[in-house]
Amino acid sequence: MNGRILVTGGSGGIGAGVVARHRDRCVVWSRRANGVDVTDPDGVRAAAGAFLRQHGAPFAIVHGVGDFEERSLLSTDDAAWRRLLDSNLTSAFLVATTLVPAMCEARRGRVIFFSAAGAEDRTAKPRAPAYFAAKAALTSLARSLAKEVAPYGVTVNVIAPGVVVHPDSHAASQERMTPKVPLGRAGTVDDLLGAIDLLLGDAGAYVTGDVWTIDGGLSL
Ligand SMILES: NC(=O)c1ccc[n+]([C@@H]2O[C@H](COP(=O)([O-])OP(=O)(O)OC[C@H]3O[C@@H](n4cnc5c(N)ncnc54)[C@H](OP(=O)(O)O)[C@@H]3O)[C@@H](O)[C@H]2O)c1
Repeated sequence: MNGRILVTGGSGGIGAGVVARHRDRCVVWSRRANGVDVTDPDGVRAAAGAFLRQHGAPFAIVHGVGDFEERSLLSTDDAAWRRLLDSNLTSAFLVATTLVPAMCEARRGRVIFFSAAGAEDRTAKPRAPAYFAAKAALTSLARSLAKEVAPYGVTVNVIAPGVVVHPDSHAASQERMTPKVPLGRAGTVDDLLGAIDLLLGDAGAYVTGDVWTIDGGLSL
């Protein structure tokens, strides 16, 4: 496992858990950590250029950014729509297109995106339709990328969490959802780290284009 792990959103939540686990190998992009806004095309291009000059091709990208907002579809204004699509979908496009070509040249690499449990199933998502639409599109993007880069030894997978409580998570929404979790509790960042470690490690080398739902059964 030569090379750095770029963790976008690594200053909080799930990304911070990944950074705590792999501290020596991680580079964090977030607005707080180093002023990188992954929804800003010029900012991402500049940050990617600096990353490649300093570290070479990343070994892995763990793309933790993905804002959540509860808002019905008809109360979603243009600004909220753009904000949610930019944060959850366009950011992944920008990070992938600026860094994955170098991973392909290095002929190895792992990309992990985050969807949300059930984003692709046949049920309506009245709580957060723009968010879930972006997450379903992100999964499609991940599968397409997985197939495109597989010949270069780069894997692309998606983790789809349910309710993951951490200091910055959406407490009110999570309190409503937690009683619905069949395993009887909300998830923690630690509940996701085993799967992330597996995808980053040797055991994950042959897994690509997959979606791993880790939600205590919430989407069943
Ligand atoms: N937590 C859950 O229950 C849950 C459930 C389902 C899916 N997910 C998904 O899992 C992923 C990680 O979730 P999380 O709860 O850890 O996320 P989070 O706490 O909302 O965000 C993690 C970090 O992302 C950074 N960030 C936000 N917008 C950014 C931007 N435009 N540019 C750069 N950094 C930005 C923030 O740091 P700065 O403010 O410093 O930029 C924040 O600390 C997300 O995609 C989320 O949608 C989470």
